[in-house]
Amino acid sequence: MARSVMLSKLCSSYGAFLAASSSLGSRISFSSSYKVLFLYTWYLWPTELCGESSQFFFVAFPFLFLVKDMQSMLQQESSGDWDSLGFGLVETDFMYFMRSSSDGTFSKGELLPFGPIQLNPSSAVLNYGQGLFEGLKAYRKEDGSILLFRPEENALRMIAGAERICMPAPTVEQFLDAVKQTVLANKRWIPPAGKGSLYIRPLLVGSGPVLSLVPASEYIFLIYVAPVGNYFKEGLAPINLIVEEGYHRATPGGTGGIKTIGNYASVLKAQKIAKEKGYSDVLYLDSVHKKYLEEVSSCNVFVVKGNAISTPATKGTILPGITRKSIIDVATSKGYQVEERLVSVEELLEADEVFCTGTAVVVSPVGSITYLGKRMEYGNNGVGVVSQELYSSLTSLQMGLVPDNMGWTMQLQ
Ligand code: COI
Repeated sequence: MARSVMLSKLCSSYGAFLAASSSLGSRISFSSSYKVLFLYTWYLWPTELCGESSQFFFVAFPFLFLVKDMQSMLQQESSGDWDSLGFGLVETDFMYFMRSSSDGTFSKGELLPFGPIQLNPSSAVLNYGQGLFEGLKAYRKEDGSILLFRPEENALRMIAGAERICMPAPTVEQFLDAVKQTVLANKRWIPPAGKGSLYIRPLLVGSGPVLSLVPASEYIFLIYVAPVGNYFKEGLAPINLIVEEGYHRATPGGTGGIKTIGNYASVLKAQKIAKEKGYSDVLYLDSVHKKYLEEVSSCNVFVVKGNAISTPATKGTILPGITRKSIIDVATSKGYQVEERLVSVEELLEADEVFCTGTAVVVSPVGSITYLGKRMEYGNNGVGVVSQELYSSLTSLQMGLVPDNMGWTMQLQ
């Protein structure tokens, strides 16, 4: 009898615990719930069935782990989790959501719990790919304050992209306000200093229904965030690229120069083939002469020869990367001769170093490039001196480790 009363009390207490933990947004881990189950079992177990010494072992260990879990939950940190961050989606607490009115202006944005959104099956983004995305990062400094890196550049790039595919866009002020609100609402997900960053993903999509090929009559601007570490599985180690001859990323007059979602779907096939062959990613050539470097699937590319650093000029087929632009300025300020021009694939044979830049990849050194079956190697199996220098300069600035003489960071608190 005592046991059935105890069991029903146990079940209801445990149910209450699970309900409470799910309303906390799963902040308490599943293993913690086992620890609590142990505690309740001990608490409700008739004493005659359990001697003093076994009680101690029954409760002491789970209790210690539980306290540790609660502590990390309250501190909003978990060293284990931060250490294993890659570039995958970790769902966070809130997303920003704002709909355009029929006149194309945006207003009444709000923070909502992160989760699925409703889209009309005939929305322009689902049917014709009328959509853009952005990517930027927030970093936590040692003193706990938060830094955004050049967010107004993303706002401006979204406005330019929206114009190209006939969409209205939020103003720079609306964009910045939305980014700040989303980051602050998800503050607990920003990794501690040196452990990664919070990747911020703004989206602008045609949500209005269409059937014929016309721009949507309504748009959604949305931002979600996720804590991230290194983009490539190689971490900070040099990546291995293959030059793609059959597939191209962009064509003159197309949309290669804006961050439209379709640009990324179109490289998946070449990327998949390259990865199956063991390469990290693909380096694309121009689609007209099939001779000049364009981009890597998710980032811009730079070639170093002596004191000269060259990168393909942004003439419509190249994404005007914000990290690209920042590296050009940092390298110039360090005395390198930076050239934005046509860079021939043949130059890879003579190059001292090659590196990629992007918000997600930051500055990623290239260890080898394979072209027409010939493998060219850089950096003597390590990170090249110039790549390392530029990586360190840029990331110190982004993380607030050095004074920001460029005026690129925006402090949130
Ligand atoms: C970024 O670097 O932010 C990008 O948008 C590239 C994406 C494929 C992760």
